[in-house]
Amino acid sequence: MRIELVDEAMTRKLGKALAKSCPKSPFLVTLTGHLGAGKSHLARAFLKKLGVTDAVPSPTYTLCETYPISKKLTVSHMDLYRLEDPEELEYFGFRDLLDHQGLLIEWPERAGPLLPTADLDVHLMWHDVGRLCVMSAQTKKGQRWLDELKVPSAA
Ligand SMILES: Nc1ncnc2c1ncn2[C@@H]1O[C@H](COP(=O)(O)OP(=O)(O)OP(=O)(O)O)[C@@H](O)[C@H]1O
Ligand SMILES: [Mg+2]
Repeated sequence: MRIELVDEAMTRKLGKALAKSCPKSPFLVTLTGHLGAGKSHLARAFLKKLGVTDAVPSPTYTLCETYPISKKLTVSHMDLYRLEDPEELEYFGFRDLLDHQGLLIEWPERAGPLLPTADLDVHLMWHDVGRLCVMSAQTKKGQRWLDELKVPSAA
């Protein structure tokens, strides 16, 4: 699925739309694309739409920021850019996070073989104007998510 994100507002709309059809059970979304492609921007809109009222800082230095969403769902936003060694993920109880939380992970490639197949990969790239988003579902859960997604249109 390809979506043109002509400006920042469109990136936010897509983040919100993804939140609307978000599974109520643990999920894994990889946010891929170059530095500055808009991954954190999209994640912030997603988390806000899920009801996070606190600030949503980029986890660039903390690597992981966790947000309780409901009794059943906690979502963590990770940025693994500064991860030196995939083994460091053990300190975060990474396997436990995968089993029990919704995860949005920027720079997932840094996790190496510790990362299982994502439900959804959201790839952002620089485009004529703004960005282009290419999303792919890699599991049944991810496919249902995309099937239910109401693709936003530019205002
Ligand atoms: N569709 C868009 N068009 C133009 N600018 C955008 C768009 N979406 C996001 N941006 C802008 O891109 C900039 C970088 O965004 P962001 O910090 O989310 O990138 P990132 O992919 O998380 O980068 P990093 O890999 O460094 O974490 C921000 O200023 C954001 O407002
Ligand atoms: Mg980022």
